[in-house]
Amino acid sequence: MREAWIIDGVRSPRGRGKKGVGSLSDVHPQRIMAQVLNGLKEKVGFDPADVEDVVAGCCGGGGDHAMDIARMSVLDAEWPISVPGITLHRHCGAGQQAVTYAAMGIISGHQELMIGGGVESMSRYCPDHTDGFTANNKHLYELYPMVPQGISADLIATVEGFSREDVDAYAVQSQERTAVSIEEGRFDNSLVPIYHLDGTLALDKDEHPRPGSTVESLGSLNPSFLAMGTNLFIEGQEKTFDQICCEIYPEIKEVNHVHHAGNSSGVVDGASAILLSSPDYAKAHGLKPRARIVMSATSGTEPIIMLTGPGPAAEICLKKAGMTTDDIDLFEVNEAFAAVALKVQKDLNIDNEIYNVNGGAIALGHPIGGTGPMLIQTVLDELERRDKSTALIAMCTGGGMGTATIIERI
Ligand SMILES: CC(C)(COP(=O)(O)OP(=O)(O)OC[C@H]1O[C@@H](n2cnc3c(N)ncnc32)[C@H](O)[C@@H]1OP(=O)(O)O)[C@@H](O)C(=O)NCCC(=O)NCCS
Repeated sequence: MREAWIIDGVRSPRGRGKKGVGSLSDVHPQRIMAQVLNGLKEKVGFDPADVEDVVAGCCGGGGDHAMDIARMSVLDAEWPISVPGITLHRHCGAGQQAVTYAAMGIISGHQELMIGGGVESMSRYCPDHTDGFTANNKHLYELYPMVPQGISADLIATVEGFSREDVDAYAVQSQERTAVSIEEGRFDNSLVPIYHLDGTLALDKDEHPRPGSTVESLGSLNPSFLAMGTNLFIEGQEKTFDQICCEIYPEIKEVNHVHHAGNSSGVVDGASAILLSSPDYAKAHGLKPRARIVMSATSGTEPIIMLTGPGPAAEICLKKAGMTTDDIDLFEVNEAFAAVALKVQKDLNIDNEIYNVNGGAIALGHPIGGTGPMLIQTVLDELERRDKSTALIAMCTGGGMGTATIIERI
């Protein structure tokens, strides 16, 4: 079977996703993505005219994210008009899926040079999943009364028995590891600065981390999803979200609301892109590969608890590749919420020394569609730093799904 090679990747810094506060909040998402595309072009030196498609994950859907932002970004980057772009939605796994689909195009022999990436400007919307899942979708809601993701995360913590101390300790570790990585410049290889239209610098470093967070400082933060879980929030809602959780998971008496601003993934703006090539194209054009895509997989899991997909996706991926967790040098699992990361680590029995070693989205933020390719880049940079070979990247997604990819250095 033909291989898909990862040539290189870049990402924007992650800016705080708050209008008027975050340094990227007034930069159009298509501009952020366009600068990432050009950052990749400058880093690698490939001819953009040869890119057969730009596949980008993005979940914003409307407003500034509308109208196929992948294509808009290509045009904004002033690449040849012959380069198309396609935007896809798989909730938080969209960007990882974009890399997979780009790789599949190459592996199938349909395409030679592809970009998989993603973008999200969370300043422009608040992740409020009540609309599509509930209020405006009564029929589906009767089948699957999906609750907002923060409550799903609290439900995971309750079912798994993770205490507030457990999730806070995990969050502190994320901050501490990220602080070391930033101090040592471990992210620098993949970062490109983002500018305003007038040429002034918007942001050149990650803006969300709070180094110095401690279990004590996090202990003072109020749970973010308690009121949402215990009150009736949506017109026509007959049961609280917590009641729904307890009905579906009768083994729990109540939902323990442990997640808050300090142990949930940060709301941020950002974009990322990875250049993938067939071996033939790379050899013919002098492109040096960094890694190959070994395998990818997706999972569908129970949609009310919703965020338990990465473990099953990782297991499917390993099985398809004929590998076990012992064959993996580093695991990069999106820190959507602390309980999500803890559950995957527990279920797959992963040593803490090879798990999210540079921290993750709790410290750095999770620009939904943009995150997957960022995780792939971070772990690839880390494999090189440690001179190790294989990594598994996994993410949970809305709707009860998971995405997983195994990469191997060349
Ligand atoms: C949990 C959540 C609702 C909190 O939102 P928020 O209250 O706007 O969070 P902020 O980051 O603005 O933090 C609020 C306050 O908490 C405190 N805080 C946050 N992190 C902290 C930390 N590590 N240490 C100490 N205090 C902290 C600060 O006082 C902060 O206010 P400030 O920014 O003015 O200093 C939001 O982060 C969220 O929804 N995250 C998940 C996003 C999501 O669902 N993604 C998809 C996942 S699958």
